[in-house]
Amino acid sequence: METIQFYSGKKIPLETHRVRVVQKLYLPKVEERLKALKEAGNNLYLLKNTDIFLDMLTDSGVNAMSDNQLSAMINADDAYAGSRTFFELKDKLTELFGMEHFLPTHQGRACENILAQSLIKEGDVCPMNYHFTTTKAHIVKNGGRVVEVVKKSSVITDSTDPFKGDFDLDELENVINEVGAEHIPFVRVEAGTNLIGGQPISLGNIEEIHRICKAHGISLVLDASLLQDNLYFMKIREERCKNMSIREITKEVASYFDIIYFSARKLGFARGGGICVRTKELWDSMKEAITLYEGFLTYGGMSTKEMGAIAVGLEETMDFDIISQGPLFIEYMVNELDKRGIPVVKPAGGLGCHLDAMKFVPNIPGDQYPAAALCSALYLAGGIRTMERGTLSEDRNPDGSEHIASMELVRCALPRRVFTLSQVKYAIDRITWLWDNRDMIEGLTFTEEPKTLRFFVGRLAPVSDWQEKLVDKFKKDFPNCL
Ligand code: F0G
Repeated sequence: METIQFYSGKKIPLETHRVRVVQKLYLPKVEERLKALKEAGNNLYLLKNTDIFLDMLTDSGVNAMSDNQLSAMINADDAYAGSRTFFELKDKLTELFGMEHFLPTHQGRACENILAQSLIKEGDVCPMNYHFTTTKAHIVKNGGRVVEVVKKSSVITDSTDPFKGDFDLDELENVINEVGAEHIPFVRVEAGTNLIGGQPISLGNIEEIHRICKAHGISLVLDASLLQDNLYFMKIREERCKNMSIREITKEVASYFDIIYFSARKLGFARGGGICVRTKELWDSMKEAITLYEGFLTYGGMSTKEMGAIAVGLEETMDFDIISQGPLFIEYMVNELDKRGIPVVKPAGGLGCHLDAMKFVPNIPGDQYPAAALCSALYLAGGIRTMERGTLSEDRNPDGSEHIASMELVRCALPRRVFTLSQVKYAIDRITWLWDNRDMIEGLTFTEEPKTLRFFVGRLAPVSDWQEKLVDKFKKDFPNCL
């Protein structure tokens, strides 16, 4: 599309879709928010959706569907085995990624389970730009180890680097030489690197990673869950992609990989997932795990309706207008907060706007979970649910000590095609109030702590009565407000 210009000269993120189905939202009173937060053990995953005004927890499984997706769901061919809809999805993936073989799964982490079980042996090492929580958990569970080779500068939140998801190529070579290629079952590339702020990797970097892996005979795996936003950034930030269509960029990206897996809760605006593989041998080696853990080979735990929606959603992902909406809204939010001096991850990435909790609440030590505390505070301030991406999202070291994360982020996810600009402005308003009252925010401590992926179901409590005090201040500052 042509970039739309405005008479005012200001850049306004403009939707190229219209909303035809809506859902009423409810903003609980601040006292109700405090009660709900306590009941949820300060873990926003444990809140009820009815206690939330703006759900910015994630972009996973909550993206808005299009009319064409809904119609594909009605048209889906229900069958336990051999569904026409499965083959439509498989054909779409083959068309876009150029890989003949597909293994369906119920979601992204199921792909990780199967890949880790099939490919990782005790003592193996998996280099990747940056880990994702579920990916790492599966690799570690199968006796492997994750080594991050993202550039050092990528974890500096305030930066102008357009591709912070890029590998440090020298570091990758060093790891391969140190560990030995025979102990590296695959190198994993995460497009739209989630935990460092949805930051993209460049096509040029992927080409180089491929060159290195090929020279050492190591397989290359793409986690394409966040590929959609990454494609957008390649097109607008990378010179060699400027004149390529999204479809052409996708094809070239895919050509460098042996395996591509994805969560269709993100890629394809739907739910489900799957693993695309280049060779029949790889497909054969994993197909039994699909029937054991997921479902038959033509649905893998997904409903045929979901598969129909993914096939259409993948085609929509090839439309630059459609995939621009998320990054443009995120860029707006990042820039507005930045103008107010509020620390955010820069440049704007995909997935959501990320607040830098280390700078927002520098008084809170790592083992009192600064980002988690800020998430709680933001829920109190505005009924907004966000996600902690920091030390709380790490499991403890084997000796029981805290694994202090290199970044403490609060992710304000913008599920695709869901929020209006006014809702984004409301979130900016409440974050600004918190920024002005940041000295009141203190830490959290665990009251119940699971061993694996503790952030999902663990329970915490504030280290003092800071939340009651914050609510009192809110009532003073917003006397007429809910
Ligand atoms: N890989 C990446 C890069 C992800 O972001 C996710 C999920 C997964 C794999 C796992 O996929 O949830 O379908 O099992 N990310 C979600 C999030 C949970 O909120 O960022 P899944």
